[in-house]
Amino acid sequence: MTKHVKPEITSPAFKTEILAGLTAARKTISSKWLYDDVGSHLFEAITELDVYYPTRTELSILEKNKQKYARIQGARGAMVELGSGSSRKTNLLLGTFHDLSVYMPVDISANHLKEAADRVRRAYPSLAVIPVTADFTEPLGQLPLLPELPVLVFFPGSTIGNFEKEEASNLLANIKKAMPGATMLVGVDRPKDEDTLIEAYDDKTGVTAAFNQNLLQRINREIGANFNLSAFRHKAVWNRSKSRIEMHLESLSDQKVTVAEQTLTLEEGETIHTENSHKYSEDAFTAIAEDGGWQVQDIDTDPKRHFSVYTLTAE
Ligand code: AVJ
Repeated sequence: MTKHVKPEITSPAFKTEILAGLTAARKTISSKWLYDDVGSHLFEAITELDVYYPTRTELSILEKNKQKYARIQGARGAMVELGSGSSRKTNLLLGTFHDLSVYMPVDISANHLKEAADRVRRAYPSLAVIPVTADFTEPLGQLPLLPELPVLVFFPGSTIGNFEKEEASNLLANIKKAMPGATMLVGVDRPKDEDTLIEAYDDKTGVTAAFNQNLLQRINREIGANFNLSAFRHKAVWNRSKSRIEMHLESLSDQKVTVAEQTLTLEEGETIHTENSHKYSEDAFTAIAEDGGWQVQDIDTDPKRHFSVYTLTAE
């Protein structure tokens, strides 16, 4: 079947944020902009790679513990999924939570969200599927949820790892504010040997490189820029002191680029920092959760201790 790429409605914040990041002393772009339609599809392709351990490892943890998760009160109410990611994880839980009444995926990409919601509607006709297009890095505001319905927040994929510690706590506090009595299942990646990490974020097939480079294409398409993709290379580095993988786009020469009528200069070797993916130890993530007003109820992991799923409660 052909995938038709629908025109994306550019968020007004996109241009301002991109320009601010590219004119800063150290060039940087928030990783949330990686997920336009093309980027969301490329990310799904990453999750299928053998070297990308987070998806399959998290799936194995969910599979092993699904009956326990089904006993969480919210599994009989509404499941709110943040950053509707890999449909395999959603399906695993929806297939286990037989008494769930509402599924509410929240995502920044409207088209991606619609596709995901349609898939769930077809598979679970009796479930109320209520997609919400929102940037959950901003306060969530009022969600269309009945106050008496128990809520299970599903925040998979270690998306929480994209944030600095303080931002992560603030985000968790915002989630609690929007859904005060909720329980949350959150996927968190763990520190591990550097080779495994680098292979996962710099796969030889180049899917992650394409995912990163798509950001430049997106800027060209949506705000008028002339980035030459072959003048940049994808770079993944392990920042040990900050316990995070960083993705960068490295300029291969001294060059000038025009972005929304502004001229940028890049030196050979200079990078645009496009993503942080923090790997949190149990102590580090527990501190973040508590700062955000949540208690750790449970931590489930895999035999290699590569990934973890935390059960957090807000009261
Ligand atoms: C979706 C943020 C969890 O950090 O592992 C995958 C994104 N970046 N490969 C991650 C990503 C490069 C991913 N998250």
